[in-house]
This record gives sequence, structure tokens and C-alpha cells, in this order.
Amino acid sequence: MFLSKHVDALQEWLAQQKEGHQTIGFAPTMGALHDGHLELVRMAKRAGDLAVVSIFVNPTQFNDTSDLEKYPRTPGRDLELLLSADCDAVFMPPVEEVYPPGADLSISLNFGEMENVMEGEFRPGHFSGMATVVNRLLDIVKPDRLYMGQKDFQQLSIVRDMIRQLKLPAELVMCPTVREADGLAMSSRNIRLTPAMRALAPILHQTLLETGEQLQRYPARELEANAMARLEAAGFRPEYFSMVDGRTLQPVDGFDSSDFIVACTAAWAGDVRLIDNVVLKGQAG
Ligand code: PAJ
Repeated sequence: MFLSKHVDALQEWLAQQKEGHQTIGFAPTMGALHDGHLELVRMAKRAGDLAVVSIFVNPTQFNDTSDLEKYPRTPGRDLELLLSADCDAVFMPPVEEVYPPGADLSISLNFGEMENVMEGEFRPGHFSGMATVVNRLLDIVKPDRLYMGQKDFQQLSIVRDMIRQLKLPAELVMCPTVREADGLAMSSRNIRLTPAMRALAPILHQTLLETGEQLQRYPARELEANAMARLEAAGFRPEYFSMVDGRTLQPVDGFDSSDFIVACTAAWAGDVRLIDNVVLKGQAG
């Protein structure tokens, strides 16, 4: 497994691989890896790509400095896991390799209403930081395929729109959410859950599923209000529970409002913020 902290060395390695006509599959991550991340690597390998993973805790997408400070970092274990998943190359850059001093890499794309709802409402600035770093990493790696998780559905939608707006050559491939046996979506932040909050956490997925099932019979706003109340009663501090059109991310009124509907939620379990979603109708990807 090739490992580099430097853009130049990585690009040299990539150029050699491309000469051998290898296609490159790229999965950007912030580390503290789990099976969800490894599934991105496995998908790339199954497609015949060389799997390249970046591990970079991107400071510009954290709207809360304590979240950035507390973000779990497990580099040794990450490398072991990537090795076991047959990953081909890992890029672990320091901040100045991604953001060279003096270079202005920020992109000002307009994602319309898509970036103001849900995560956009509760994490101001998050998506512009995320889009900037994904664009920068794509520019460094220049992959044939970009692998990202459905777990971060709004992030995926925004990256899809960025690729379209900038006419980037990478094909975006969506990886379904990988879950623990009890339904909790795998997340790097899960290791910070207290035992009590870990026990509570699967209710988030259950509420998404059970609320979603009722959309054929009840209006979306009523179900959302009930779901928020249920999460609060269970011991979460929910931020939003929204049933949205899977393309525009705008709220739907009911089951017949769209052919692609996704229920999305974010809630605090103690001091850990969890997000999750399920597709209620239509096909993601
Ligand atoms: P991170 O949270 O580390 O996630 C990296 C990738 O793994 C994302 O595409 C995410 O959707 C995917 N992922 C996370 N949990 C998953 C799960 N349970 N099942 C399937 N895929 C999962 O998302 C980021 O990092 C950052 O915003 C990043 C894109 C790297 C930009 O900094």
C-alpha cells in the first residue's frame, strides 16, 4: 500500500499507475475509519479501480471548533484497516499540503436552496468548506470514480451538483449506508457515545423507518412533528426530521408529491451529533 503525506509524491505514484492504464477510484475521508469507509474501498476494488483513500480532518468544514478538536483521530488503526481492505494508496496530508499558504482555493458555487436546508441550516458554512476540500482533493487525485456514502445524503447531493457545475470528469458512485447490527449507521463519531447514548442511538434509524412507513397515509409535516417529539421523548435533542425530494432536497407534502423521497434526520445523543436517512420511495444513486 502506497502511503504519502505529500501531493507531489502521490501524483508521481498516480501518474505511474495511469500509464499502466489503471483506473483510479477515490474515497475522501476524515479518518477514524469503520466498515462504512472500508465498503467504499471494496466497491472501488470490485469495479476494478485502484483504491485511493485520503485521510484529512478538514478544518474548513467544522462550524464548531470543539467538534473539530474532539473529532476522533486513529491513524495507526486506520492504516491497518485499509491494508486489510486491500487499499492501494493512502494520502494523509498535513493542512499546508491541502491549503498551501497564500493560495485561495475556496470555490463560490451556488447550490441554491439545497445547501440552506437541513445540515445547511444547522451547520452554517459546512458545505462550502466541504465542497472546497473535495474539489481540491479531486484536483490532486483526478480519479475516474469518486466513491461517497449515502449516509451523508445531502453532502452527496451537493458534490453531485458541484461535479455538474464544474464539469469535472469524475463519476460519482454512491455507497449504501453500512449499519451496525442494531441499525445504527456507522460513523466515526459513534466511538464518542456514552454507553447510555449508544443504547439509545438505534432509535434514530427505527424512527426513520417507522415514520417513513406512514407517509402513504398521513401528511409529511404531521409525521415530522411526531418523529421530533418521539426522538425528544427518547432522550435525543433532535435538530430536524425532514421528508424531502431526493433530488432538490426540498420538503415533500406527502407520498404522491415526488417519485424520489428521502427521510433525513439529525439529533444530538449527549454531546455527539448523529445524522441518518432512509430512502422512502424511488432509487438513490
Ligand atoms: P467522513 O465522515 O470520514 O466520511 C467519508 C466518506 O465515508 C463519506 O463519503 C461518507 O458518506 C462515507 N460514510 C461514512 N459513514 C458511512 C456509512 N455508515 N456507510 C457508508 N458510507 C459511509 O464525509 C466526510 O468524511 C467529509 O465530509 C469529506 C467528504 C471527507 C470531506 O472532508
